[in-house]
Amino acid sequence: MESNNKKRVLSGIRATGRLHLGNYLGAVKGMVELQDNPEYETYYMVADAHAITTPYDVKNLEQNRKDVVLDYLAAGLDPKKSVIFIQSQVPAHFELMHYLSSVVTISRMQHLPTFKEKVKQYPEEASMALLNYPILMAADILAYKATDVPVGEDQEPHLEVARLIARKMNDKYGTDFPEPTTFKTAGSYVPSLLGEGKMSKSVEGSYINLTDDLDTIKDRLAKVPTDSGMGTELPKSGSIANLLYFIEIFQGEEKKKEYEASYLGSGIRYRTLKNELAVAIYEHLKPIQERRKEFEGKIDKILEEGSKKANETARNTLAEVRQKMGF
Ligand code: TRP
Repeated sequence: MESNNKKRVLSGIRATGRLHLGNYLGAVKGMVELQDNPEYETYYMVADAHAITTPYDVKNLEQNRKDVVLDYLAAGLDPKKSVIFIQSQVPAHFELMHYLSSVVTISRMQHLPTFKEKVKQYPEEASMALLNYPILMAADILAYKATDVPVGEDQEPHLEVARLIARKMNDKYGTDFPEPTTFKTAGSYVPSLLGEGKMSKSVEGSYINLTDDLDTIKDRLAKVPTDSGMGTELPKSGSIANLLYFIEIFQGEEKKKEYEASYLGSGIRYRTLKNELAVAIYEHLKPIQERRKEFEGKIDKILEEGSKKANETARNTLAEVRQKMGF
């Protein structure tokens, strides 16, 4: 992992609790894929500083950080191949954020869809940290001069800001930031169980956690809204379409086609469908859950090493930016 011509990858997930299938299929699978590709040097962090951009509970932050690290390791991130670290343990990100914020306008930031959504959700608590969210994210990425960023589709507007900042910095100050692009996986958009929008931690009933046991998965699927089970046309969106999406991922395309035929014919029995899907999802998660147990109690050392390496790289970038900007 030392000096070389490898392309750099950086990604992170907000420290707001355990990871769900949306995080896994949309981001973590891509992280693992890139980590196993020898052309890339991979940096993966827990974005705990991003967790304070919306109301949060101080008491839970430490546990949330640990949960994301354990879920990362359980899902296949390997500290021998990737630098795994906590964002707040690399102070260069914050200093860099300030320098980078000087090349973007307020109005560019105010018009981001992610910002507008959160303002609607928390009108009384829309903070400056929230407005700065994408700039901190750009600092995370540019501190490592990353070219590829495995994240879900919803993060694309933030990547656009990172590219804009990279260009402006290069034009104005002669830095050599690459313009980072999203690394997409097959499941980069994972729909909500409820039928509308994406699977999200902040929408109760929309998600399945990587640590859910079989009964919990069954309960969550039981609450997915269904219809009569038959019709003259297959639903293109909504909870039935989403159930079929998960069936394709976890039980295969053939199975999905069978259900589609039933929908147009004699009808689907959702009780059976949901039970079988729950078992298939659980089978997929079981090895992840077993690996998670093996890493409990081992994360402090992994993070200490990760933070050391991340600090080295980020500090170099920061020194260069400071010098070029006249500090
Ligand atoms: N905004 C990302 C999300 O909500 C999390 C994140 C923070 C991130 N910093 C990052 C992702 C840097 C990729 C790169 O999922």
